[in-house]
Amino acid sequence: MFLNRSVARVLCVTAVSLLCLAACSQDTSPPADADAGKSDTSAYNLTLDNTEFMAHVLEPIADVLWKSAGWILDENEGYYELYPTDDEGWLNVHNHGAMIVEAGNLMMLPGRAQDGAWTTYAQATSTVGLSIMKAADEKNNEDLFQAGAQLYSVCTACHQAYNPDILSRFQPRSLTE
Ligand code: HEC
Repeated sequence: MFLNRSVARVLCVTAVSLLCLAACSQDTSPPADADAGKSDTSAYNLTLDNTEFMAHVLEPIADVLWKSAGWILDENEGYYELYPTDDEGWLNVHNHGAMIVEAGNLMMLPGRAQDGAWTTYAQATSTVGLSIMKAADEKNNEDLFQAGAQLYSVCTACHQAYNPDILSRFQPRSLTE
């Protein structure tokens, strides 16, 4: 019993010393290239380029949201509202808001992120995603509509900045159907 306790204490002291060593060595010898981690893409699967990420990940998520916020004119039924009508519908919006938050992060992966205002637009995407989640939590149609409009503004602002040519090609499916 006594022996066990001593062993435990020795192990404990050793562990603390190791932690200290690790901390000290970090302080005194920073990596040769402090920026190395930032450009290292080896941990990520970047098979999808930015255009594919947009077309197959981001736009499908956004389409669900745009289809959930507002009203459309139907030839037979006249205007009808698209807002969620039950808890399941709002949960779906909440989930897609969360996906938008994370999509902002995905745009920032090394290999995807670009110079200039890219970070600002990517972060704005995540911020709008949080607004969408909040609107869904509060089941607030007006806030959801506003957040959907903001999302569209962020998309077009970034396209305007990085490739104005695609503005003409970029027609969200949900807005043209
Ligand atoms: C941080 C910048 C940025 C944001 C934000 C952004 N995009 Fe993009 N998007 C791009 C870039 C860059 C391309 C690739 C342009 C090219 O082909 O050269 C692109 C391409 C696209 C394409 C493919 C267009 C085509 O036919 O070639 C679609 C669709 C698209 N984006 C949808 C969206 C949607 C929807 C949003 C918002 C929910 C969005 N994007 C937000 C930068 C952005």
